[in-house]
Amino acid sequence: MANNNMAWQRKDLLGLEELSKDEIELMLYTADKFIEISKRPIKKVPALRGKTVVHLFFEPSTRTRTSFELAAKRLSCDTIGVSASSSSILKGETIKDTARNIEAMNVDIIVIRHSASGSAHRLSESVKASVINAGDGCHEHPTQGLLDLFTIRQRKPKVAGLKVSIIGDIMHSRVARSNIWALTKLGADVTVCAPSTLMPPEIEKMGVRATNNVDEAIAGADVLNILRIQLERQKKVYFPSTMEYIRNFGINKERLKGAKKDLLIMHPGPINRGVELDPDIADGPYSVILDQVTNGLAVRMAALYLVSQGRDKSAKRDK
Ligand code: CP
Repeated sequence: MANNNMAWQRKDLLGLEELSKDEIELMLYTADKFIEISKRPIKKVPALRGKTVVHLFFEPSTRTRTSFELAAKRLSCDTIGVSASSSSILKGETIKDTARNIEAMNVDIIVIRHSASGSAHRLSESVKASVINAGDGCHEHPTQGLLDLFTIRQRKPKVAGLKVSIIGDIMHSRVARSNIWALTKLGADVTVCAPSTLMPPEIEKMGVRATNNVDEAIAGADVLNILRIQLERQKKVYFPSTMEYIRNFGINKERLKGAKKDLLIMHPGPINRGVELDPDIADGPYSVILDQVTNGLAVRMAALYLVSQGRDKSAKRDK
């Protein structure tokens, strides 16, 4: 990975849409430096000793929450987790009030996952703490986009010109949006593939090609990023049956017969095995799905480290 001499200036990490190519490169460069820490017998460095991180998770999460909490601990932060089910949100307190009360305890970084698109941006305007978006509705999941890019770069160092197809529920996917912003900024050739009812109108304006034909999306692709159908976000029925979705969009051995030999199969998780992805492909030789999870830890260490630097700089600018 190329050396990177720029310094991070932002207090927050809210999305990849607003980041420059250089800022994305700096995140990946910093994550690359942190990868090795998790291979040590003592997996801890004092980089953020004395800093406090609060994880506000108002939606379920396994990978993102665990890796943010581990990342904070590996950087020697003090951490605390708050879930909707155990907080005063249940008594009617707003998220803004919750966050401002938490901030009154002098926390440095708030990591938030919420079902409302734009929630992380709104929170960042109300608090002086750094805010990291751990997924806001259908909008963005920036650390997922970064870890996906990091995983691609481990296997295919030149992203410019790489053919990446994102297949599944594009309409409801914050992972798709963050991937599209990051990949197109680095020059990848991105195709999105979904049933017409799950394809956002005017998606091509994001600089991607759109198709409803999964075989077309697979042909010549270097990377397939497979997404699950997000039934929890769907307010109506978007396709006739799960069986029909599997028949037309499910990724299986048969469908990959003509695929490139060095194809990468990615999935952000959780996987609906046998629906969007057959188990023998999820666990097969093309799959880098568990590498994505491993890399997520280093990427989240980088995000915590850089926003902490950015917050110190923005506090100096405000004086
Ligand atoms: N990829 C992802 O966001 O997974 P979790 O919902 O388990 O955090």
